[in-house]
Amino acid sequence: MSEKLGYLEQALVDITRVALGGDTDGVRILSRRLARRPPADAIHPLELKEELFALMSTAPARQVSPLRGADEVDAGDVSWVRYPHGVPAPILNPSVRRSVDLIVAEHATPQRLEEFGLTPSRAVLFVGPPGVGKTLTARYIASELQLPLITLNLASLMSSLMGQTGKNLQEVLSRAATEPCVLFLDEFDALAKSRVDESDVGEVKRLVNVVLQQLDQWPPGGLLLAATNHAQLLDPAVHRRFDTTLEFVLPGFDERLQFLGESSIPALRESDGTALRVVALVSDGWSLAELESWTTRAARGAVLASAEGPVDIAHAILLSAKQRAREWASDSPQKRAEFSRLATEKLGWTQRKLGEWLGVSHVTIGKDLKRSGGGSDA
Ligand SMILES: Nc1ncnc2c1ncn2[C@@H]1O[C@H](COP(=O)(O)OP(=O)(O)OP(=O)(O)O)[C@@H](O)[C@H]1O
Ligand SMILES: [Mg+2]
Repeated sequence: MSEKLGYLEQALVDITRVALGGDTDGVRILSRRLARRPPADAIHPLELKEELFALMSTAPARQVSPLRGADEVDAGDVSWVRYPHGVPAPILNPSVRRSVDLIVAEHATPQRLEEFGLTPSRAVLFVGPPGVGKTLTARYIASELQLPLITLNLASLMSSLMGQTGKNLQEVLSRAATEPCVLFLDEFDALAKSRVDESDVGEVKRLVNVVLQQLDQWPPGGLLLAATNHAQLLDPAVHRRFDTTLEFVLPGFDERLQFLGESSIPALRESDGTALRVVALVSDGWSLAELESWTTRAARGAVLASAEGPVDIAHAILLSAKQRAREWASDSPQKRAEFSRLATEKLGWTQRKLGEWLGVSHVTIGKDLKRSGGGSDA
């Protein structure tokens, strides 16, 4: 122990050392010691105690498994094993949200179902456009169940015809079927595409069969998730192999607003709400992934535009939103009316305010609204 370090600092160093060595039992012992005897000069000793005990009681029990310990299992760039933890709940519309909660509950307490001769859902298909949270939801489910997530990207799999792939794939899949884990087949439509593509070579067909067979033999109690942007490409025989299909849709105004309120950009998250509502409005039709990259770009631009001193990021984002609104409205009077109607409904804006925003007179706004059948006399 170094002379210079205080009790808390030394505890931190010790925990870091055993954690880096991958010794979870060691981490537990040190954390328990710290929780039992919080340092005299700790600012919130009771909270520290509570927090540490809570962590230790919810952390997964150590399991002996060949997958544990290895951070990643390589199968020729087509699969990854990860141990997600503390993944925040994705922002979903209420019905998808309920289904996701149900999947977690079924697998968290399978015994309750078994009492009634039932088993948890085995294979679930996520369908929906890009960037709406399918992959994130798979990570969230694994994190909630404290299980490793084995991701297999079928598109990369089908395009990599290296001799090793088939063998590694078989290995990963049979491990996945016997280990407690969540298996996630991403870009699942790649499989359907290769089934109809006559030009495909034998190796691909064989891989497809390996995956389909796995779907058939997937054990009750295991959880297999698959995701696709193109549900229509899957033939009914493949669809039938899943017991549930979850339709992920583009986020609505409320979901976009919630996402912005939880933004990773502090200045936006903590802004007065106007910027959030305006951005939630102008991002109609975007996925949350698109919304995220748009706000990040706008924030970056704002920071780089001023070489020094404070930057009002929320205001800069609001200005970008204005530009976006103008682009939207410049398409046609119909578009302008569409925007105006949304802004009236969601933000309570008057036609005067709308005119100022869109760079036209309030009379024009009134005309647009009337012509498109939604006239108001605000
Ligand atoms: N529902 C959501 N809740 C919270 N964040 C989201 C959500 N959807 C998308 N995001 C943000 O966008 C990123 C990309 O989302 P994700 O990878 O889950 O999309 P996806 O539906 O799997 O898309 P793809 O079909 O292209 O694989 C996430 O990491 C997250 O930052
Ligand atoms: Mg994805």
